Amino acid sequence: MIKLLTIIGARPQIIKASALSRAIKTSFSKNITEVIVHTGQHYDENMSEVFFSELNIPKPKYNLGVGSGSHGEQTGKMIIKLEDILTKEKPDAMIIYGDTNSTLAGAIAASKMQIKVIHIEAGLRSFDKTMPEEINRILSDHVSTLLFTPTQAGYDNLIHEGFSSTLSDKPTFNCPNIYHCGDIMYDNTLFFYKYAINKIDSIEKFGKDFILCTIHRNTNTDDKERLTNIFSALEDMSKDNKIILPLHPRTRKMMPLMLGEDFVKRLEKNTNIKIIEPVSFLDMIYLEAKSKLIVTDSGGVQKEAYYLKKPSIILRKQTEWIEIVNTGNAVVADTDKDKIISSAKAFLKETPKDFPQIFGDGKAAEFICDKIIKTIK
Ligand code: UD1
Ligand code: UDP
Repeated sequence: MIKLLTIIGARPQIIKASALSRAIKTSFSKNITEVIVHTGQHYDENMSEVFFSELNIPKPKYNLGVGSGSHGEQTGKMIIKLEDILTKEKPDAMIIYGDTNSTLAGAIAASKMQIKVIHIEAGLRSFDKTMPEEINRILSDHVSTLLFTPTQAGYDNLIHEGFSSTLSDKPTFNCPNIYHCGDIMYDNTLFFYKYAINKIDSIEKFGKDFILCTIHRNTNTDDKERLTNIFSALEDMSKDNKIILPLHPRTRKMMPLMLGEDFVKRLEKNTNIKIIEPVSFLDMIYLEAKSKLIVTDSGGVQKEAYYLKKPSIILRKQTEWIEIVNTGNAVVADTDKDKIISSAKAFLKETPKDFPQIFGDGKAAEFICDKIIKTIK
């Protein structure tokens, strides 16, 4: 039996972890047992708890309760608490997801104790080290023993950074294995779509044919000019369109400071812009599926837009999910107000139809479990 210790902390990691837990439960429970540790990076009910009940994720055995803080404070507290748990649990390997501070803390704590690290969603790069996530990704990848990339671009990035494509039966810290397995989030969209699309309360709450928007990236929320540009573009688009914006708590806190009270009041009075609390994953899949366009700075939401065959406008300088842009189904508009508005008009006039399957076959979790069983002990 292989014992895995899974680290989650931020909203998208909880969602990602559900795919692997599901695969373990359905097909690999004879070989793999999983202990889940929640760092507590996200803690509001609608940023954490809602996903456990809705997505049937096993309850974490530990919650480190770390909460919010500066990067050093948050990551440092996690590492200290993780060391104790690793000493006690003695897992065969640790699973980390994506690129948050919880990912990095897991990578550092385990690798320094010579516990193998398995990085899911490895290899992604924005080539911009001013992003905290880029630092987390690079450092985590380079102490991992099994690396699973969701895209070919991710795999190629690892090769460029010196990883070998040769696969070993017994990979080690100094001789890791890298695999291109497809996106575990695609597994989830395929699995949960059928439940989301028929949810009566979502149908009643949200209707259809709106523009869906999410904003949470620190580069946008903490910069007056950038956040103002985004909301000015949304205000302009709201003349002809309904917009639904499930708002990350970070953005809600920063809006009055960055936009000023008058602008916030104007937005609140605008009946075509519906600013709501963060929604559950099933509600989110429903919103994505019923939207006509998605405007976002989220990594996960960009991909889900693509899976559900919706065009998207990316509110960032660059994207790690470059394949989406290369197909012509997404535009990187950064926070250029005119570009956001004109791209929206273009996409709404002519909706893209061709979304080739470039993120795997929806069975990434099974692939990952199979490789873990074959190589980790
Ligand atoms: C984090 C990740 C980011 C990921 C995002 C997913 C890092 C460096 N960033 O960003 O990569 O895309 O999660 O959503 O790890 N807050 C609450 N309640 C919560 C959680 C957060 O109010 O439950 C507020 C706090 O004011 C906090 C702020 O949001 O200071 C930012 O939270 P934090 O987890 O530090 O970063 P995110 O912006 O959520
Ligand atoms: N999501 C959600 N409710 C929301 C907003 C997002 O369930 O109100 C889901 C979304 O469908 C995706 C994931 O959260 O699966 C993306 O997380 P987020 O945008 O916070 O982070 P990122 O992917 O950018 O790291």
